[in-house]
Amino acid sequence: MGIMRTLQLLILLLPLAAAIQPSAQDPVPGQRFRHLKWGSINFLHTTDKLGINSHGWHAGHLQEPQYSADFGDYLSFTSHLRNIAEENGVDLIVLDTGDRAEGNGLWDATDPMGKYTRNFYRELPLDILTLGNHELYNGTTAQNEFLEMVSYYEGFSQISRKFVTERQGFRIISFGFLFNFTRNYKNTRVKTAADTIKESWFQEVIHDIDVDLFVIIGHVDIHSIEFTQIFEAIREVHPNIPIQFFGGHSHIRNFRILDNKSTALESGKYFETVGWLSIDGIKAREAPDNTDNTSMVVSRRYIDVNRAGYQHHLGKNATTFDTPQGLLMTERLAKYRAGLGLDRLIGCAPQDFSLSKHIYPGPQNWYSYLEEHILPVMVYNKERSQVPRFIFINTGSQRSDVFKGPFTYDSSFLISPFTSKFIYAKDIDYSIAIHLRDFFENDAGPYKSSDKSENPLENRQQDTAEVDIQSSPLVNHDQAPLTHSQPRHKYSRVIGYATIDDAGTDGDDTIHIPLKRYPTPNVIQGNASFPEDWESYPPAKIDIVFFDFIAWHVAAGLNEITGTKDYSTEDFLPYMRQEDTMTKLLLDYVAKYWGRDC
Ligand SMILES: *[C@@H]1O[C@H](CO)[C@@H](O)[C@H](O)[C@H]1NC(C)=O
Ligand SMILES: *[C@@H]1O[C@H](CO)[C@@H](O)[C@H](O)[C@H]1NC(C)=O
Ligand SMILES: *[C@@H]1O[C@H](CO)[C@@H](O)[C@H](O)[C@H]1NC(C)=O
Ligand SMILES: *[C@@H]1O[C@H](CO)[C@@H](O)[C@H](O)[C@H]1NC(C)=O
Ligand SMILES: *[C@@H]1O[C@H](CO)[C@@H](O)[C@H](O)[C@H]1NC(C)=O
Ligand SMILES: *[C@@H]1O[C@H](CO)[C@@H](O)[C@H](O)[C@H]1NC(C)=O
Repeated sequence: MGIMRTLQLLILLLPLAAAIQPSAQDPVPGQRFRHLKWGSINFLHTTDKLGINSHGWHAGHLQEPQYSADFGDYLSFTSHLRNIAEENGVDLIVLDTGDRAEGNGLWDATDPMGKYTRNFYRELPLDILTLGNHELYNGTTAQNEFLEMVSYYEGFSQISRKFVTERQGFRIISFGFLFNFTRNYKNTRVKTAADTIKESWFQEVIHDIDVDLFVIIGHVDIHSIEFTQIFEAIREVHPNIPIQFFGGHSHIRNFRILDNKSTALESGKYFETVGWLSIDGIKAREAPDNTDNTSMVVSRRYIDVNRAGYQHHLGKNATTFDTPQGLLMTERLAKYRAGLGLDRLIGCAPQDFSLSKHIYPGPQNWYSYLEEHILPVMVYNKERSQVPRFIFINTGSQRSDVFKGPFTYDSSFLISPFTSKFIYAKDIDYSIAIHLRDFFENDAGPYKSSDKSENPLENRQQDTAEVDIQSSPLVNHDQAPLTHSQPRHKYSRVIGYATIDDAGTDGDDTIHIPLKRYPTPNVIQGNASFPEDWESYPPAKIDIVFFDFIAWHVAAGLNEITGTKDYSTEDFLPYMRQEDTMTKLLLDYVAKYWGRDC
C-alpha cells in the first residue's frame, strides 16, 4: 500500500484502522513490466476468483504482495481504463467467467453464503459474465445467484446477447457456456455445448449476418472440446468473422490460437491475474465474410493483481490512482470483514507448508501434515473411535499454502473452504481398503477440482530457469519479501508466473522467476486407531471415512477392487456431524495445537 493511500484510508477509516490488513502491501518495487497494447476493441477478463480478494491473503509472506490489490483497486483500475478508452475512441469490455462463489471468508462466513459478495460484483462495470460450477453445487447459492445476479442483469443479458459497442460500433454477439458439469444441485440444469449448438435458437442467432465479432465466454478450459465445438459451429456459418473466446476453470494463464481470426484467453485464478486482450485491424460493418484482406492483430497480457502494476499500466501513481468509488469499496470490504471477525487470530502456524512447492510426501508439504497430524486426530466418531480407519480427502479440497505466523479465521476459508461432510463405509476388509489409494490415483475423478496449475506438466512454465523453493539460496524464510536483484540490470524480479502459450513467452505483464512445482496425489490418506503391531497383525476390518464429495468414487473403487457391484453410495453413513466441515476441523486443530504466540 502506497503511503498516500494509507493516509487517505486512515482518514476515511480511522475507527476501522485495525481492519486494514498489513497484507495490502505494495509488491517489491522496481519490477519490470510489459506494456498493455491497446486495439480498437479491448477486453479486461477475470475468472475463478472464488470469492473476493479483500486483503484476506496473509500478511507478510513471500508471494502474496504480488497479488495484494483488492476489489476497490480493481474498480479504480477499470474506471481509469474506461477513461483511456473514451479518450482514444476505442471500446473496453469487462467480463468475468465465473466461480465467484466460495473460497474466502467474505463469501463463506456469511449466512447465506455470498450475502455481501454478490453486491460487490454487481458494482463492477461488468459487460458480460457467466457462472461456474461453484455457483451450482449448493441449492441456496444457485437460487440466490438466480435471484440476485440473473435478475439484476436482466434486460441486457441472457444466454446470448447482441449489442453494439459504444465507440467503434462493433456489432457483437455473445454467449456464455459451462463445461459438461454434472454435480449441479437439482434446482439447476446444465446443458452441454454439444447439445446447445444444435438447438434452433442457437443456429438462428449465429446465422445473423449483421455481426462483426463473436465473443464466447465460458467457465471451461480454453483447450476444451466445448470451445472447439462452438468454434466449428460458428465457422461453418461464418468462415471469416472474428471469434474471441474467454475461458476459465482450469486455473491457468493460457492463450490459444484457433485460426487467423479467432483466439482464446484464460486468465488464471484466485484474483491473482487480470487478463487483457486487444484486437486491432478489424472494422465494424465491413462484411468480413467477404473481404479477408484485413489482418487482425490480437495482443494479450496477464496482469498481476497489484497496485504497482495497475498504476504502471495507467501511467498513474499512488496519489492519482484511487477513485472515490474504489476507496469506498475498499472501505466497505474492510468493514464487512471486521464485522465477520475474519482477522481474528486462531493460532500460529509453526512453519510454512505448501501444496506443491515442496515435495510430497515431506515435512513441508501441507498434504503430508494433514495425513500425519490433522486427519488422524480431528476426524473422529465417538462410537467408532476404537475402529481402525483410513481417512480420505481429495487434494482439490485444499486451496492455499499455509504460511508461518498468524492463522486467522479467514485463513481457514482460504485454505479449505468447502462444506463437504465426512461419511463412512463400515467394516471394510483391510485387504480391500489398502487398494483404494491406487484406485483414486488411476481414476479420472474430480479430485483436484481441475486445478491444473498444481500439476507441473500442465503448468506450461518455462522450466529452464525454475527455482526450487526447497533448495534455492534465493529463498530466505526470515527475510521476506523474496527479491532477486539482478546485477546485470536495475530491475528486481520475484517468483511468479512465466507463462508459455500459443503466442510465446511474453504474455505476463511482469517478468518473473518461475517456480518449480511438485506433483501431488489425487487423494490423501490419513489413518487412525491402528494397533501398534498392525504391520504384523493387520486388522481384519476397518472403517473408511471420506468426504461425501468423493462418495461415488469410493463406491466405484470398492466395486472395482472386489469385482462386484456390492457397494453403493446409499450404504454410506454420516461419520461426523453436518457442521464438522474441514474448515471447522482445521480451526479447531489450529486453536488446540498451534499456540497463539506468533
Ligand atoms: C447451502 O447454503 C446454505 C446457505 O448458505 C447453507 O445454509 C447450507 O448449509 C448449504 N448446504 C449445503 C448442503 O452445504
Ligand atoms: C465431459 O467431457 C469430457 C471430455 O471433454 C469427458 O471426458 C467426460 O466424460 C464428459 N463427462 C460427462 C459427464 O459427459
Ligand atoms: C485466414 O485463414 C483462412 C482460412 O484458413 C484463409 O483462407 C485466409 O487466407 C487466411 N487469411 C490470412 C490473412 O492469413
Ligand atoms: C480489401 O479488399 C477490398 C475489396 O476486395 C478493397 O476494396 C480494399 O481496398 C482492400 N483493403 C485492403 C486494406 O487491402
Ligand atoms: C503523482 O502524479 C501527479 C500528477 O502527475 C504529480 O503531481 C505527483 O507529484 C505525483 N506524486 C508522486 C508521489 O509521485
Ligand atoms: C497410514 O497412511 C500412510 C500414508 O498416508 C501409510 O504409509 C501407512 O502405511 C498407513 N498406515 C496403515 C496402518 O495403513
